Amino acid sequence: MTVGPSGVNSDVAHFYNGSGKVRVAGRIRDRWGGNLHNGYWHDADDDAPPEVATDRLTDLMIERLAPRPGQRVLDIGCGIGKPAARLLRAHPVDVVGITISERQVEQARAGAAEAGLADRATFEYADAMRMPFPDDSFDGAWALESMFHIPDRDRALAETARVLRPDSRLAIADFVLRTPISEAGMRAVQRICETFGVHSISPVDEYLAQLSSHGFTDVDVLDISDNVARTGTLLADAWEAVRDQMVENGNSAEVDAMITATRDFSSTPEFGYVLVSATLG
Ligand SMILES: C[S@@+](CC[C@H](N)C(=O)[O-])C[C@H]1O[C@@H](n2cnc3c(N)ncnc32)[C@H](O)[C@@H]1O
Repeated sequence: MTVGPSGVNSDVAHFYNGSGKVRVAGRIRDRWGGNLHNGYWHDADDDAPPEVATDRLTDLMIERLAPRPGQRVLDIGCGIGKPAARLLRAHPVDVVGITISERQVEQARAGAAEAGLADRATFEYADAMRMPFPDDSFDGAWALESMFHIPDRDRALAETARVLRPDSRLAIADFVLRTPISEAGMRAVQRICETFGVHSISPVDEYLAQLSSHGFTDVDVLDISDNVARTGTLLADAWEAVRDQMVENGNSAEVDAMITATRDFSSTPEFGYVLVSATLG
């Protein structure tokens, strides 16, 4: 069982290229340190601000990727390049980031140049389901909250396996479905999927079967659903505060749907969140 709208994810590119609501939403994210992903909080007493909590999630992914000096790492769905920059500062590796948003490619390149990392960071417009790289091009890869956007995750994982060299590490941060799912829960999941261009979300077992069918072994799963859950509420509160700036060209219903869906997200127990790591071969 995989839910989410089917078809190509041109809606996702449109989303990240920036309609008015997303430009304002993006400015909030920028204040969160430019990470387009969830934060990680240790427990209820942890009052770390979002920019710290989102960097923590990147650090957990860096640990799971465990890169070695000189390696070439593929960043699948690189956003505006913040996680890649953090990885580059922590390890002497090269990163190639791909995204289906032209705007993000420009932002990521500019950010890397500004940070003095451009000699080790390349950002390209490319679809994870059809990667423009020869076989055996990379020593490691990560997908930080990008797999759920991809209509055919199986194909993206096949492509990932193709471009990785044997023994490469793969780290994934993604939403999964917690089962059993009530009818009301399924409706909430569908609504959220449609609002945010989520094309591919499934129970973790299906995910793991796909990884295994593409030759990934030594798979480890860490469920951090409770640690990231606060993100939706914080984001919805922040967007609510600038709701009027997000509305343009009569899209108020769309903006409100985005805020409501974000708020619903944290209170829909069917959504889980995992970090998965594996080795190819
Ligand atoms: C939630 S953002 C995460 C960005 C970044 N990993 C981060 O954590 O800041 C999702 C990213 O996945 C990218 N994406 C979605 N579908 C994709 C596809 N088919 N191929 C490549 N990238 C894709 C989006 O363009 C966006 O950069």
